[in-house]
Order: sequence, then C-alpha cells, then structure tokens
Amino acid sequence: MILYAAIIASFLSSLYLFHRRRSCKHPLLFDYPILGMLPTLLFNLWRLHDFITEILTKHGGTGEFMGPWFTKMNYLVTCDSLNVQHMLCKRFDNYVKGHDFRDIFEPFGDGFGAADDETWKYIRNLLRSQMKQPRLKAFVDQTVQKKILTSLLPILDHAQQQGRVVDIQDVLVRFTSDNICLTTVGHDPKSLSVDFPEVAIEMAFRETEKSIFYRHTVPKTIWKLQKRLQIGQEKKMREAYKTFDEFIYALIASKREELSKCTKEEISEAPFNLLTVWMTEDEGLREHDDKFVRDSAFNFLVAGRGAMASTLTWFLWLVSKHPLVEAKILEEIRDNFKTNEKKNDDCGDHCFDEDHHNDNLDQEQYLKQSASGEALGMEEVTKLVYLHGALCEEIWGKDCLEFKPERWISDRGEIVYAPAYKFIAFNAGPRICLGKDLAFVQMKMVAAAILSKYCFKVVEGHVPTPTHSIVLLMKNGLKARIMKREV
Ligand code: HEM
Repeated sequence: MILYAAIIASFLSSLYLFHRRRSCKHPLLFDYPILGMLPTLLFNLWRLHDFITEILTKHGGTGEFMGPWFTKMNYLVTCDSLNVQHMLCKRFDNYVKGHDFRDIFEPFGDGFGAADDETWKYIRNLLRSQMKQPRLKAFVDQTVQKKILTSLLPILDHAQQQGRVVDIQDVLVRFTSDNICLTTVGHDPKSLSVDFPEVAIEMAFRETEKSIFYRHTVPKTIWKLQKRLQIGQEKKMREAYKTFDEFIYALIASKREELSKCTKEEISEAPFNLLTVWMTEDEGLREHDDKFVRDSAFNFLVAGRGAMASTLTWFLWLVSKHPLVEAKILEEIRDNFKTNEKKNDDCGDHCFDEDHHNDNLDQEQYLKQSASGEALGMEEVTKLVYLHGALCEEIWGKDCLEFKPERWISDRGEIVYAPAYKFIAFNAGPRICLGKDLAFVQMKMVAAAILSKYCFKVVEGHVPTPTHSIVLLMKNGLKARIMKREV
C-alpha cells in the first residue's frame, strides 16, 4: 500500500512539476520540486538586493519567480521601464492593488495606499486639492524650519560636543516622523529629543511595517493561522495596531469636541493640520466619519515618514564618501546665500571636533540656547539645483555605480527631466506620489541645514546595506561621529 501510494505521489508530483515548468516561460531561478525557487533566494538572502539585480540583468530585466508549491507565492519581477510604463501608466486600470494586497496591508484600511477604483479616486482628488493649498505649504515650511532650529541642529551640536557616535538615520527618522505627525494630526510626539525617547506610536509604526513585510514572505495560510492564534509577528502586529488606533481615535474624539465649540472663522484661523481639514471640509460626496479620518491619517503618516529619512540617510552617506560633491553643494549654498564658510575639498581639513565635552549641560536650557540662527526656507532651497541633482542621484544610467549629481543638470543649469516610469522612486502614472515636490523641498532644507554646519565621519567598518523592508532604510543605521564645519 505504502509503495503504491509512493509511486502515485511521485507520478503526480512529476506531472505537477512538468506542468509548472511548462507554464513558467521566463524562470528567474531553478525550480526545485516542492520548494520552488525559494531555496536559491533564501541562500542569497544576505545580499538580496544585489542578487535580484544580478538575476534581472541576466534575464533581460524581467522574469518569473515561482514560490513553494500551492502557496500562491508566484511573482512576475521586472525592472524594465517599458513594463513599468505599461503597468503604471498605459494600462493602469488593469493592475489594481486588489483584494490580496488589502489583506496584507490590513492596517491601511480603506486609505489611499490600499484602495482601488472609486474609493481611491475620491481620496486622491480630495488630497490633491488639499495638498495644493498654500496653507499646507506655509505650515510645512514653518514647521520644518522650526524643527531644524530647535531640535535637529541642537541635537547634532550636543552629540558633537559630547564626542559620541550618533545614528544619523535614527535622528532623521525621528525628525521626519515628528514633522509628518504635526502636519497630519497636529500633534508633536517629540521623538527627536536629546534623550532619544521610545515613543509608543513610533514603535507601533515600525512594528506594523515589519509585520506587513513579514506577510509578503510567508504563505497566506501561515500568517492567517498566526493571526487567528495570536502568535509571533501577528501578535506584535495586533498590539501595534491597537496602540495606533487608541492614539488616533482619542485624538479624533478630542478634536471633534474642540471643533464642536468653534465657529467657522475660529476653525479657519486655528493652527493647520490635515485631521481638522478632513473633519471640517464637506465635499458633499461622502461622510468623513472616524474610520475615514483614521485610515487617511494612517496612510498619510506612512507616506510621509520613512522615505524622506531613508533618502537623506543614503544621501548623507554618499556625500561623506565624496568630498568633491560635498564641496560643490557647499559652494552652491554659499553662492546663493553668501554664508561666510570657507571652501575646502577634504572633510578632514574643514571640520573640527571640539574637544570639550559638555556632559552636565541642562538639556532643555541647552536646546533653547542653541535655537538661534536661521534655516533656509522652501522658496530659498528651490535655487539649489546641484543639491537637487545630488538627492536624485540614486541608481541611474549605465555608470550607475558612480555618484555623479552633474548628470542631473542640463546645460541651462536646470534639472534634467526623467520620465517617472524610468525614475520610479515616486511611482508613476495616476498613482504618482502627491508629496514629491513637498518631499524634495523638505529634504533640501534639511540637507542644506546639516551640511552647512556639520560633516560626518562614518564609523570604521560600517558596511551600508539596505534593510529587507518596503522603505529601504539602512540596516544597522548610519553610525557616525559629527564634526563642526569650520567657518
Ligand atoms: C522621498 C520621499 C518620498 C518618496 C520616495 C515617496 C514615494 C511614493 C510612492 C512610491 C508612492 C506610491 C505608493 C503606492 O501607490 O503604492 C507614493 C504615494 C503617495 N505619496 Fe509619496 N513619497 C515620498 C514622500 C511623500 C511625502 C512627504 C508625502 C506627503 C506629505 C507623500 C504623499 C504621498 C501620497 C498622498 C501618496 C498617495 C498617492 C495615491 O495613492 O494616489 N509622499 N509616494
């Protein structure tokens, strides 16, 4: 009996394997029985991004990944810009996010990040008109400048005076999180403080992102079972979810109460935040109930959080490795704004590390004292074309491993246009990022403020690798010593 069962099983398995291999026209890897292409991927997990780049190059930019049998973990993988254009622009309607996506991205609810069709169109139109409002830009401009002067620079100064190694990425994540929280819900979690506190909602976001990534890596049946039993990463996801919901629903309730006591004029004069806008603006189409406001807030916080911090981290790391680029960025700032900094080519020559450590400083007082000076505003940083090019310079062109901001600048001194389906960082087509311009000006404000005052020595032996997550932050952060730039 056992022998017959084994013979039938191996016959059926061979048939299934034959069928799988026939239907997979462009296999990226060898398809093993039962485990599919997973073993090769797992074997290369430690260098996942380089590995995917290599195999895609080998297969002309597109191919199929077949997961373990019966797990529905089969993917078409592409980096071919024509495929990207087809999917995101030309045939956008054929490539919806879909039910499975919404299942995995459960915390996004019905927000723009996971919605399709009419729901998505409604939210996109609403957000597009809100994000064009001068009130939003003015608020972001003011908030970012204030945060730079009262938190970011004083904290870097403090770390420099103490001579300690700082995780620049952590500083930037905290900075962007506080800012987007202020813009979205009008609340400053103050995660960027000298003692680097653990802020519950920030931790909840990190855990949620981890869990969503985890759901991409295991068969649906497994994470669904874990969810039902409330074990492992799914348990953490539930707790994170709860932390965020408690925070946001409490905020919505108190805001509704506050708004019920205000006149229209008082509301329009109150400090700006999107939560208030969503609760008070009546589009006449849809009720903005608590769930709508919760989902919109969650999605907006995710959209504006990690990506800017990640871009700035990789940017600062690249700049620290390319003193000539650094010198050109400083020259551009100096030429435009006539600061009195010296021109230098080598970080070692123009940075100094003050030797007096100031451990006993009263931190509150210190932050107040340091909050002097000025940071460049949104209007001003638009002049910084070279800096813009340096921020775009990711992975681009045939010589993409060279860091060459110059390639982004035309003969007329303007930024070279690249179609979004080729320069895909902000997505393309109807779903293109609504915050792209706002993100660039903020990143330029932060980069100009930091680089005008400080330079970094990345700790020896630091190997920067991207995390395995949706936003490519740096695994192990960016640990560096900070030095004041000589003026
Ligand atoms: C370097 C920074 C940023 C990058 C790389 C980036 C990238 C992206 C990407 C790839 C998408 C498409 C997501 C998807 O449909 O799955 C997106 C959408 C979006 N982003 Fe950004 N983003 C950045 C900053 C921001 C900021 C600061 C804001 C808000 C202030 C923002 C607001 C949005 C919104 C509202 C959408 C949704 C568009 C839609 O679904 O129609 N983004 N972004």
